[in-house]
Amino acid sequence: MTEAQGRALWDAARRLEKGDVILEIGSHQGRSTVVLGTAARTVGATVIAVDPFVDGKLFGGSPTRQRFEENIAAAGLNDVVELVCGYSTKLRPHWDRPFHLLYVDGKHDYWTYTDDLRWSAHLPPGAEVLVHDCFSSIGVTLGTIAKVLFGNRYTYVDRATSLARFRVTPPSMKDRLRVVAQLPWFVRNVGIKVLLRLRLRPVARLFGHDSPYDPY
Ligand SMILES: C[S@@+](CC[C@H](N)C(=O)[O-])C[C@H]1O[C@@H](n2cnc3c(N)ncnc32)[C@H](O)[C@@H]1O
Repeated sequence: MTEAQGRALWDAARRLEKGDVILEIGSHQGRSTVVLGTAARTVGATVIAVDPFVDGKLFGGSPTRQRFEENIAAAGLNDVVELVCGYSTKLRPHWDRPFHLLYVDGKHDYWTYTDDLRWSAHLPPGAEVLVHDCFSSIGVTLGTIAKVLFGNRYTYVDRATSLARFRVTPPSMKDRLRVVAQLPWFVRNVGIKVLLRLRLRPVARLFGHDSPYDPY
């Protein structure tokens, strides 16, 4: 997470009111959860963190859950953050608790991401949806093209690098064009990922990417 992305999460949580709830999909070791939770505390809101703590090299399984719990405790957020351990796609069909801000940073394939957007059914009209790795992950961007650019439910607001902000409100043609305007940046990010896989970091540098990590 970049500082600007942390700021975007912070600001979104700070726009909530006392008693409001944030639902986060994909918490990992709790970095974004701590930002959201700390901001939520200042306005009297709370956070529900959804993560199955997927086993394997990428996400780390139960040791990751332990780190998450330690990080939430160290930040003094045990009374603000509630962990719901499970897959977002399995929990969603039975979910019946309202919330007021949705943050999506779980599995990044098209099907999971578009299913995760459906959690917005529990948001009030006009509420915000934040999405990480938007216009940098292929699955998330294709989902955004399908559901935001060509859909009628979400309006693109802005982004902090790959952290996009949508509002649950029907988009105008101008709003749709602002999604189209992000696509060259997406193509650039995919190009950089390819260059990094080909070990062509000096070429990636020419496009302003000076890091061994994928753009996010
Ligand atoms: C990129 S990490 C999240 C990073 C976190 N938001 C942060 O800022 O540190 C993705 C997380 O999504 C979780 N995940 C994968 N599939 C999921 C699903 N279907 N539902 C919820 N979480 C999922 C993984 O276990 C992993 O912890």
